[in-house]
Amino acid sequence: METHSSSIYLSSLLLLLSSLSPSVDAYTWPSPQLDALEQVRWEQIGLTAFLQPCNTFSFDPQRARSGRSNAADWIRTAYHDMATFNIGDGTGGLDGSIRFEEEQARAENVGDGFKNTFSAIGGTSNRYVSIADAVAVAAVLSFSNCGGPEIPFRGGRVDAIEPNAPGVPEPQDSLDSHISSFARQGFTKEEMIGLVACGHSFGSVQHASFPNIAPEVDDPNNTQSNAHFDTTPATFDNNIATEYMTGTTVNPLVVGLNETTNSDKRIFGSDGNVTMRSFADSPEVFASTCAHLMARMIDTVPAGTKLTEVVTPLPVKPSNLDLLLVGDKIQLDGQVRFWNMIEDSSRRVRLLWDDHNGSNSASNNATLRFSRVGTSSGGRNRFAFYSFSPDTGSTGPTIMALDAVAGITNMRFAVDSKIEDQGGLGFPVMDDIMFASTSCYRGTRTNVTGGRIDIAVRNDANPTRIYLERSGRDSTGRPTIQEIDVPIPKITVPSGSSAYSIWSYELPTDSASIFASYNIGAEVGGVKSPRSGFRRSIDQLEACV
Ligand code: HEM
Ligand SMILES: *[C@@H]1O[C@H](CO)[C@@H](O)[C@H](O)[C@H]1NC(C)=O
Ligand SMILES: *[C@@H]1O[C@H](CO)[C@@H](O)[C@H](O)[C@H]1NC(C)=O
Ligand SMILES: *[C@@H]1O[C@H](CO)[C@@H](O)[C@H](O)[C@H]1NC(C)=O
Ligand SMILES: *[C@@H]1O[C@H](CO)[C@@H](O)[C@H](O)[C@H]1NC(C)=O
Ligand SMILES: *[C@@H]1O[C@H](CO)[C@@H](O)[C@H](O)[C@H]1NC(C)=O
Ligand SMILES: *[C@@H]1O[C@H](CO)[C@@H](O)[C@H](O)[C@H]1NC(C)=O
Repeated sequence: METHSSSIYLSSLLLLLSSLSPSVDAYTWPSPQLDALEQVRWEQIGLTAFLQPCNTFSFDPQRARSGRSNAADWIRTAYHDMATFNIGDGTGGLDGSIRFEEEQARAENVGDGFKNTFSAIGGTSNRYVSIADAVAVAAVLSFSNCGGPEIPFRGGRVDAIEPNAPGVPEPQDSLDSHISSFARQGFTKEEMIGLVACGHSFGSVQHASFPNIAPEVDDPNNTQSNAHFDTTPATFDNNIATEYMTGTTVNPLVVGLNETTNSDKRIFGSDGNVTMRSFADSPEVFASTCAHLMARMIDTVPAGTKLTEVVTPLPVKPSNLDLLLVGDKIQLDGQVRFWNMIEDSSRRVRLLWDDHNGSNSASNNATLRFSRVGTSSGGRNRFAFYSFSPDTGSTGPTIMALDAVAGITNMRFAVDSKIEDQGGLGFPVMDDIMFASTSCYRGTRTNVTGGRIDIAVRNDANPTRIYLERSGRDSTGRPTIQEIDVPIPKITVPSGSSAYSIWSYELPTDSASIFASYNIGAEVGGVKSPRSGFRRSIDQLEACV
């Protein structure tokens, strides 16, 4: 068993790596959308907690003892969102439409698993990761974190603004109707067998939703009386196929008492068991088939949607880069993340940077402080963060403060003697426009009544427009960005540095505006782009004087 599961993911990992070949295809940092997708897909912050361990179920006080799992809900959600696809006219598909109550209320979407999924993954979507991308990535992580293969993931799905036409197959439908339903979704009969087996490697039929298929049981470890598809319902493995082939299956859609609802039995046997036998014979074949079919499933999107390239982990990635003008210094905050790296106290990581003054890494050279290690995909991936705080021993300054006149234009990293510079490009940094520490609140800390956001603008930057970005949601839940113009100052307002002047924005006094978080964006030379920087809310700053 042990050797099986490790060889499954070894082979699927090799498959993934060989088909992606990161050094050739990897995108270049910075790329805001890919950076955000990469973080969700590979660091998996905010999502792994729901999958640790994989039989975690967050929506019943009995948790795992309920017999359910978040992982199974997430996979079923992705399938039911996709299953509305119509290859004939390109409508439907994985577009987040299953978040609408009207769609969830249909008989084909019985159960509370969809609602649960959105309460779990709600925080994952943002301006760069659509709700549909979050649905897709949640399904991907359910596989990769629970013993399954890494599924190639692309982003860029577009969220529907209304429910799709119905179209999810149901267990009492005939085999012919299932074959034509999957054909409408873009899959052959063999692919249908594969998709159903891959999906039903997880989870169960719930008594609450299908009392006739899943009878009530008296089991303290299955308080919701779920009828599991195989004996390992929270783990990806080929037991769904081995148990079926050996006639020991407990799958309620195979051995259910009512033949009408034995849809897995009809589907699995529809090619004379050829596909299921291949899965039972080889965990590797099952894993690689599932990786391929699940990737196609989540990439089944409305016609016209342009998906990104497959999101691969960047080997070296600046993270949470934040520039703040403080007096005549630029405070540089953030981390650099190294993929596939474990802790090593003898390792020395240096930040080398270029500035506007013609100086380069020879003099701009700081040793960085080890910050932390992270893991993802159930410990399969490991990465280490070094923070942009100079490691000057226990007494030195902990914040990198750069001369603002010299500024910073590009970064490289030295890991011991190896230079990491994106193949010579370096990691470009925009220091033309940033928040200034003179931003302030009015009133008192406990009663903030307004505030001023100060933005430092480099003398040679010449922006035609600076705006604050405020994130929100529209009435259908889609992430939105509201742009708030910062007025061009009538006279030059000096900053603490001779290289920068200040543009200010006085916040309206409604509390929603005061406590909202803002990013800065700017248009320079006709190009509009966000600047690096943490979101800041006014109550994180000092009082105005
Ligand atoms: C003819 C096609 C299919 C039929 C008739 C079917 C039927 C069902 C039924 C009746 C349930 C029980 C749901 C509940 O009680 O809440 C279920 C659960 C599930 N299905 Fe399917 N299914 C089909 C295809 C798929 C596919 C293609 C996938 C994914 C690739 C999938 C993934 C799942 C998962 C993960 C669960 C478990 C959900 C949980 O435990 O919370 N199904 N399916
Ligand atoms: C329930 O699960 C626990 C922990 O896995 C196990 O020790 C116990 O024997 C199980 N109880 C029953 C009735 O199966
Ligand atoms: C079997 O299931 C079908 C579809 O749900 C239902 O119409 C039928 O009454 C069931 N038969 C029995 C004997 O329960
Ligand atoms: C497929 O295999 C199952 C389990 O061995 C068996 O019951 C069934 O008759 C087979 N179906 C076909 C079409 O061979
Ligand atoms: C920048 O260059 C000027 C002129 O070469 C020099 O006087 C100044 O000290 C330099 N500043 C920094 C921070 O290197
Ligand atoms: C950075 O400084 C260290 C120590 O002063 C030195 O050993 C190293 O060679 C420097 N790196 C570069 C690229 O200049
Ligand atoms: C907050 O300050 C404003 C302006 O000074 C005042 O009108 C208001 O009553 C204060 N609110 C509270 C809850 O103290």
